[in-house]
Amino acid sequence: MKILSIESSCDETSVAIVEGRNVLSNIISTQIAEHKIYGGVVPEIASRRHTEAISAVCDEAVKEAGITYGDVDAVAVTFAPGLIGALLVGVNFAKGLALSLGVPLIPVHHLRSHIAANYIAHPDLKPPFLCLLVSGGNTVIAEVTDYTKFKILGSTRDDAAGECFDKTARCMGLEYPGGVTLDKIATKSDFNKYPLPVPKAQGEYDFSFSGLKTAVINTVHNAAQKGNEIDIPVLSATVRERVCDMLIDKTLKAAENLGYKKIAVAGGVSANSELRERFSLECEKRGYSLYYPPLKYCGDNAAMVGAQAIFEFEDGNIADSSLNATATLPIDYR
Ligand code: KG4
Repeated sequence: MKILSIESSCDETSVAIVEGRNVLSNIISTQIAEHKIYGGVVPEIASRRHTEAISAVCDEAVKEAGITYGDVDAVAVTFAPGLIGALLVGVNFAKGLALSLGVPLIPVHHLRSHIAANYIAHPDLKPPFLCLLVSGGNTVIAEVTDYTKFKILGSTRDDAAGECFDKTARCMGLEYPGGVTLDKIATKSDFNKYPLPVPKAQGEYDFSFSGLKTAVINTVHNAAQKGNEIDIPVLSATVRERVCDMLIDKTLKAAENLGYKKIAVAGGVSANSELRERFSLECEKRGYSLYYPPLKYCGDNAAMVGAQAIFEFEDGNIADSSLNATATLPIDYR
């Protein structure tokens, strides 16, 4: 079954053709250069750029897959969660396309598709497994009991891990997307130089990053007021260490308590070099299998939407032309 999948939840317009776990094409038009000027995604600009790009990106995906529109068996689209205006562009385009081609329309939850990025890279990965979902807007530990069945164990009480990286990086004057830049320049040395708090959250599997974010902002502002220079690579490494401590500790605790030996990491922050390195080491020590998407599938892309869509379709999750975009929706909505 050839699925044409569409992703437009934030600042990437992407269309892919996917057949099972096989990606025939995956075109991504990124808006990063434009949002960089503002230090973050400007939702109104994002929506406009999606509108301008989506037709050409779609044509290119079909062409690169070596098929025609007549070969498309279904259209899948990210419908939630995300920036509402951005999502609406993809959803409306998908509705029109599915209607004109006379094929089913499959709504896909954005976080489910981030998990599915792992299916593309690891043909052996099958539920049940434990998943740490870490993106710009979400930080969640969930049990993936089946391809379309999820149980949320814990989530962030305030900021997402990606948001903590982005905001602290921005206050240090690092280029957008901050998490990526922070990870690149972080130098592992002198962790005592900046005594940042160790984040804590009450729920056993919950997270909290806003205290850490505030501490970094205060550190930078205090130094500026005193005319002191901040050692940005060291402060970056300290933030990264604190975030990774919390992500890894809580996930391993959940795995141990619930008896999971398979753990997947998904979402943009799964590209973080320290998270990948330290988590791999810890899992190896415990005899757990750890799954990551390859870097090209960590960020937003339509291939992962297509990879999840087949399971949604098999589970009867098919939409009609009343499908709407939704800005917030938990992963276990259905
Ligand atoms: O999953 P994603 O592409 O978009 C959302 O659905 O939110 O995640 C984007 C987030 C941003 O906060 C970005 O800074 C972060 O992922 N990110 C990273 C790295 N690469 C991307 N954070 C830390 N280290 C990285 N290497």
